[in-house]
Amino acid sequence: MTQKKLLTDKVAIITGAGKGIGKATAKLFARAGAAVVLASRTPADINAVAAEIKAAGGQALAIPTDVTSQNSIDQLVMLTLRAFRHIDILVNNAAVIHPVGKAWEVDPVAWQHLIKTNLIGPFLCARAVLPHMIDRGDGHIINVTSGAAYSDIVGLSAYCASKAALDRFTTILAQEVSDTDIVVCGMSPGATDTPMQTEIRNVSKNALPSVDYFRQRHDEGSLTTPEDAARLNLWLATQNDQNGVIAPISDKTIREKLAKLPL
Ligand SMILES: NC(=O)c1ccc[n+]([C@@H]2O[C@H](COP(=O)([O-])OP(=O)(O)OC[C@H]3O[C@@H](n4cnc5c(N)ncnc54)[C@H](OP(=O)(O)O)[C@@H]3O)[C@@H](O)[C@H]2O)c1
Repeated sequence: MTQKKLLTDKVAIITGAGKGIGKATAKLFARAGAAVVLASRTPADINAVAAEIKAAGGQALAIPTDVTSQNSIDQLVMLTLRAFRHIDILVNNAAVIHPVGKAWEVDPVAWQHLIKTNLIGPFLCARAVLPHMIDRGDGHIINVTSGAAYSDIVGLSAYCASKAALDRFTTILAQEVSDTDIVVCGMSPGATDTPMQTEIRNVSKNALPSVDYFRQRHDEGSLTTPEDAARLNLWLATQNDQNGVIAPISDKTIREKLAKLPL
């Protein structure tokens, strides 16, 4: 008898699935048996990931999506339900890092766009899937957060503010769903080897005084891999007792649990 995979029969929407952690999460969730819906703004990226997943025998659907747009999110949910009939998991992973620089020097439109992407995007996506999850009685929402939520990183005021607010949104939403079996949690991957880290390394020391820290982490090979971050997303998506938890990959107990994941 073949063993049931961890996410058999589950449908997962992953925002920002064209690159980095979102891409690794989509591939891992598909290997774990989920039908995955890939949502980001660049069709070529998500189409390529979907093709890779299908070639490996998985189920994937690429839906070009901008998480700052209500219409785009409505379309994402509608097309997901049309294709797969239900939504079990939402990974709010899409984010941007720019603008980087002193708050009064950066473009205020870019600052607001970051908040729209990193904070309002997860809010809009969560509220779009929650009525459906509440009807079904369960579901998992994983908000991808960052140590930036509780660190003062000079030059990253918008990014740090967005992740601090995302953490608070996560813990409050978790309490709001606490009379259901829905799990709302946060995943904090630590500095991870993705295109976003390349963007960080490429900014000037004037814009980001701590840039050498990120360059050093890269040079010494100590960045989290996107695959390890994806494993933490997978672990969270399979747990029912993590409501309201913000799970950092640096946590030793969590790392031990990830090592035991049957994948
Ligand atoms: N890398 C790190 O060191 C690190 C550390 C801590 C936390 N994180 C968090 O981990 C998550 C993933 O980061 P990453 O490093 O994998 O980032 P990444 O490599 O830059 O990938 C980000 C993804 O988000 C998508 N995206 C950006 N804006 C979007 C929008 N408006 N609508 C839909 N998709 C959008 C991008 O695609 P398009 O541009 O094509 O839309 C891309 O696929 C983020 O939440 C990030 O804050 C990362």
